[in-house]
Amino acid sequence: MKTVHIDASAPYDVLIESGLLDELGPRVAAISGIRKVLLVSDDTVNALYGNRAADSLRQAGISVDTFVFPHGEAFKNLEVYGELLEKALTAGITRTDAFVALGGGVVGDLTGFAAATFKRGIRFIQVPTTLLASVDASVGGKTAVDLPGGKNQVGAFHQPALVLCDPCTLETLPEEQFLSGCGEVIKYGLLAGGELFEILKACEGPAGLKADIENVIARCVELKRDYVQADEFDTGVRMLLNLGHTFGHAAEVLSGYKLTHGGAVAAGMAVVTRAAVKRGYCRPETLGQLLSQLERFDLPASLPYRAAELLPVIRGDKKAAGGNINLIVPEAQGRVRVLSTAIPELEGWLRDGGAE
Ligand code: NAD
Ligand code: GLY
Repeated sequence: MKTVHIDASAPYDVLIESGLLDELGPRVAAISGIRKVLLVSDDTVNALYGNRAADSLRQAGISVDTFVFPHGEAFKNLEVYGELLEKALTAGITRTDAFVALGGGVVGDLTGFAAATFKRGIRFIQVPTTLLASVDASVGGKTAVDLPGGKNQVGAFHQPALVLCDPCTLETLPEEQFLSGCGEVIKYGLLAGGELFEILKACEGPAGLKADIENVIARCVELKRDYVQADEFDTGVRMLLNLGHTFGHAAEVLSGYKLTHGGAVAAGMAVVTRAAVKRGYCRPETLGQLLSQLERFDLPASLPYRAAELLPVIRGDKKAAGGNINLIVPEAQGRVRVLSTAIPELEGWLRDGGAE
């Protein structure tokens, strides 16, 4: 088993091993004081893994209630959040009990935010079942729900008490969702360069990555650990994790979340890197390496929207402050910088990046 310890304000371990889902019960029972949990999942993941998770918890002597909501970003909202809290109350969850988030980033973000606020904060356990949640969303304590006017607009920093990642659950993930996670893995490769970039190159595509999945997840989590430990509350270096997000996120919103998160990030990275090369910030060979990786993983290298469509959405991005946004700009593999950019200037960046 691979273990990555995260030394945040509330420290915890990320455990990664095939088959670990069946150890959920004993692992949760080992966390002091937890007698009862609310197991939270979406309908798809619950049908696949809900019973196994609940059986493991019950066999370890933990009482289990469940809250299941429809899958998809559209349900990461205040209404479902309210229903989850009501369910926790009627289930008799106390301050020493916990929520368990079984699912992708939507389940994790919603459950984490509910845990951050229920009875002024209780513990929660992340059991990621998408690649994206395994390498990114389940680690680092960002929790949130969306408002009709914007994504992740209400949230809290609240670290999980444990992350239990069983890569076997990824076997049922639709290929498009697996590739979405690959987009975030490629982002880490560009951010960190070095070993992860070499691993990705050696994988040659999704099949190779699947064959080395535990190692790839662990390397990504170790990288995320370093950013989280250095800047838990996202005021400095953690911002670099937003590489590809400013443009990608706007496209995701415009598509009504039909574009996957990792697919949009992949296209966003390609656009910002293309523009960075044109403007003399980035080495041309870095763009070439990024584009060949995106191609190997069947990920998009351009955004399906024009600059004029993307800009109004970027203005509403929660990371925009005082008319500026911190654009994350690659210079080379393993070297990225933050460039505070006036929002109107982004039009030029988008055009240089190929989004006419
Ligand atoms: P998701 O949770 O919507 O999961 C994608 C789809 O896959 C869903 O339909 C789900 O039901 C299905 N699914 C999940 N696991 C499955 C499995 N093992 N087998 C079959 N189907 C499965 O999406 P996601 O990509 O995991 O997460 C995206 C969300 O994560 C967004 O809301 C984003 O804002 C958030 N996010 C959060 C952070 C963070 O740091 N908190 C980081 C990145 C993304
Ligand atoms: N996913 C970006 C972060 O956790 O900071």
